[in-house]
Amino acid sequence: AEELAGLLRGRIRDVPDYPKPGILFKDITPLLADPEAFGALTEALAAFCKEAGATKVVGLEARGFILAAPVAVRAGIGFVPVRKAGKLPGATLSQTYDLEYGSAEIEIHAEDLTAEDRVVVIDDVLATGGTAEASLRLIRRSGARVAGLAVLMELEFLPGRDRVLPELAGAPYQALITV
Ligand code: PRP
Ligand code: MG
Repeated sequence: AEELAGLLRGRIRDVPDYPKPGILFKDITPLLADPEAFGALTEALAAFCKEAGATKVVGLEARGFILAAPVAVRAGIGFVPVRKAGKLPGATLSQTYDLEYGSAEIEIHAEDLTAEDRVVVIDDVLATGGTAEASLRLIRRSGARVAGLAVLMELEFLPGRDRVLPELAGAPYQALITV
C-alpha cells in the first residue's frame, strides 16, 4: 500500500496558481501517461470494487470517467456515468449541490441502475465532498445500493470526508493518497 502510494504520489504534478492565484492544482496527467502507475491505480480500485461486492462502477464527469472506466472493465462490471446537467438524452435523476459560489447540477440515467445493483463511486479528488455526496444521493434515489466510494486523492485540509461519510451509511471509503 505504501509502495503504491509512493508511485501515485510521484506521478501527480503540483501546479501553483492554477486555475486561480493561490490555488495549488493537482495535475494527474503524468500519472495517466505512465502505464505502470495508471495500471497499478486501476488494479487497486478494481480490488476495492471486488471487496465491496460491486455490480456497477459510477464515474463522475470528467476526470472520474478516466479512472472509473478501466476499473469497470478490469472488475468485469458495468460502467455508469454521472454527467453534468443537460448531457444525457434519456430519463434522468438530477441532483443539485452547493459550490463556493452558486450551485451545480449532475444527472444519471435512472434505467442504468436497478434495485439489485451495488454501486461503487469513483472520482479523482475528494475536496469539499460536494460532488461525491451529490452522486451518492443520486444512487440512493435510483433505488440501487451504495457499495462504496473510492478516490485517488483526498485533500486533507478540507472536510470532504466528514461530508460523505453520513451519505455512505457504513459502506467503505478509500482514498489511495492524501495530499
Ligand atoms: C473536480 C474533481 C472532483 C471535484 C472535487 O471536478 O475532479 O470531481 O472537483 O471537488 P468537491 O469535492 O469540492 O466537489 P471538476 O468538476 O472541477 O472538474 P472535472 O470536470 O475536470 O472533473
Ligand atoms: Mg471532477
